[in-house]
Amino acid sequence: MATILGGIFSSHVPGIGGAIAKGLQQDPYWKPFFDGFEPVHRWLDQARPTTAIVFYNDHGLNFFLDKMPTFAVGAAPEYRNADEGWGLSVSPSFAGKPELSWHIIEALVAAEFDVTTCQQMLVDHALTIPFALAWPGTTQWPVRIVPIAINTVQHPLPSPKRCLALGRAVNAALRSWDGDDRIVVMGTGGLSHQLDGERAGHINTAYDRFCMDSLASDPDAMTAHTSLDVVELAGSQGVEILNWIAARGALGDSAGELSRTYHVPISNTAAAVMLLEAHDGLQLA
Ligand code: DHB
Ligand code: FE
Repeated sequence: MATILGGIFSSHVPGIGGAIAKGLQQDPYWKPFFDGFEPVHRWLDQARPTTAIVFYNDHGLNFFLDKMPTFAVGAAPEYRNADEGWGLSVSPSFAGKPELSWHIIEALVAAEFDVTTCQQMLVDHALTIPFALAWPGTTQWPVRIVPIAINTVQHPLPSPKRCLALGRAVNAALRSWDGDDRIVVMGTGGLSHQLDGERAGHINTAYDRFCMDSLASDPDAMTAHTSLDVVELAGSQGVEILNWIAARGALGDSAGELSRTYHVPISNTAAAVMLLEAHDGLQLA
């Protein structure tokens, strides 16, 4: 009997990895952000997940602009990180759970999400940084993973509505999984930021707060926007909120907010960490 425990939603700025490497967690610039993980660490100690379903976006390490799946599900026994050019040390590899990956893929395709299946897949900073934050100092990750990459890079992007529906279809798949996994869902990226062009440095605290306020209790509110609306509101990289929206769908209908940290800026972003517990997803199957 699988159990969905809750969700961790986190920024994934590569500079966080540099701060970890230099031990800057108590530095005034970084401290407010790193402090946001204290409740996450306490919760993980109690929740003891075995399995993580991770919604993130690849930035060119695994997929490039020539081949860009809208939704890609990892089905590999192992996922390696590699040098992306950010000056970060390469992360320890992540163990996969191909049998759960294929169960999710079968369910998604049956639900008419025609996903790309990846039996080999590199994972970039959008997955490794939130893991380094959630399990600091770990050389062997305590969970096996199913990575789900959403295209937030090359237009046309999927809509918030479609990403929430994808997450809900993953939730339905987890409900019909008869393994005894203790599942944490993760959504990475955001919040508002734009790295390039005339609006480089764009931050929209009002939209970020709307998303954070909606996440637990009314995620459908975020589906009123198209993905282009989100680019306008949150910035061209702020569309990474799509990963959060999908992850929220995977938690199930009812979820409660346990903690929230919002801190501007980290690098070019409005940085955020949220922890949600799943309600009606508990004790599934
Ligand atoms: C930054 C933010 C990102 O989401 C990313 O993928 C890379 C860099 C930044 O603000 O530095
Ligand atoms: Fe990013």
